[in-house]
Amino acid sequence: MMKLVLVVGARPNFMKIAPIIDAIKAHNSSSERPLQYLLVHTGQHYDEKMSKLFFDELGIPKPDIDLGVGSGSHAEQTAEVIKRFEKVCVREKPTHVLVVGDVNSTIACALVASKLNIKIIHVEAGLRSFDRTMPEEINRVLTDAISDYLFITEQSAEKNLLKEGVAKEKIFFTGNVMIDTLLKHLQKAEKSPILGQMGLRNGAGECAPYCLLTLHRPSNVDNEQIFRNILGALVEIAKQVPIIFPVHPRTMNRIREFKLEEHFVQGTAGIGRTPAIYCVEPLGYLDFLSLMSHARLVLTDSGGIQEETTVLGIPCVTVRENTERPVTVTDGTNHLAGTRKSEIIKAAASVLSNGSHRVGQRPVPPLWDGKAAQRIVAELTRMAP
Ligand code: UD1
Repeated sequence: MMKLVLVVGARPNFMKIAPIIDAIKAHNSSSERPLQYLLVHTGQHYDEKMSKLFFDELGIPKPDIDLGVGSGSHAEQTAEVIKRFEKVCVREKPTHVLVVGDVNSTIACALVASKLNIKIIHVEAGLRSFDRTMPEEINRVLTDAISDYLFITEQSAEKNLLKEGVAKEKIFFTGNVMIDTLLKHLQKAEKSPILGQMGLRNGAGECAPYCLLTLHRPSNVDNEQIFRNILGALVEIAKQVPIIFPVHPRTMNRIREFKLEEHFVQGTAGIGRTPAIYCVEPLGYLDFLSLMSHARLVLTDSGGIQEETTVLGIPCVTVRENTERPVTVTDGTNHLAGTRKSEIIKAAASVLSNGSHRVGQRPVPPLWDGKAAQRIVAELTRMAP
């Protein structure tokens, strides 16, 4: 019998695990060979708005085990997850550990499983930015090297894995679980009151143009010079269209440290009248999805948002030199602008002068169809001992 431990740790993990749990439950309700599973939250993200809110909105069951590791340096955080997760594995004796994405919790739990000879399943394997200064790239390369089953979201991942010597039989092209979650919640997100609350929707239901921004990569915000340079571009863009900026805790810490507060407006009062960068707290999934779906432009350095905007048909300008998700550029709406001020301004201006696409009016990458988790669970049942 297969006994799975499913791992989540940080915000982008939650929307990936939710459809997998749904698909396992659906399988178990009609199968004589149910998949037994436990959900472990490492506690890498712990704020109400970075964690619990997502469990509630996405209907993820309360974790069976919460390791409560919290923040720390990369070494401290990774080490703490390793120490605590090993105890769980020794006690629970899973046959398989399933990890998603590329955060510190992903590699930490995979490493524990590998030393205990527990099979490792990696969902969202094979993505490569080829930038080893990025902590997630190290997490991806190492997790894939020790995984036994690698579920991939786009075809570039297979090429990357084969080049690194991963056997073809271990690779399964099943699609994108993050998109499963997006398609499931799109209608519900339409009912979110956030646009009205922020003063972006008038009485007739029309939406004002705005740009949605997220920025939290250490390479963009931890260095003052680089952060100021990107901010210079944002200030220019905000002269044309108001920017809404849900601020990640890491970025908020840097804004304070570098004394950049004067460049931002706190809250969204006056958004219809004065173009500026409007800071708000991190948002829940449904509110964020609603804002993304109606944005004139999304500016981001996140990985997942490049994928979500592609499916929504909303133009995305990515403030990074590279992407591990090239299909969002070739088949989607993503523009890689880099981090130079002039290039960011140019990319945004080009999008703002063109019309935007809408949901359903353009093809999406193969297998980003809302059924990725079902395909993963079908494979899991085939491999079950
Ligand atoms: C992590 C992931 C990144 C992902 C991001 C999404 C790694 C290496 N990085 O980065 O891939 O895109 O999550 O959010 O795993 N903090 C809080 N409350 C929280 C969580 C964090 O205040 O609930 C603050 C702490 O000051 C912490 C800092 O944010 O030190 C950074 O958090 P951390 O989990 O180390 O990395 P992220 O930047 O969130």
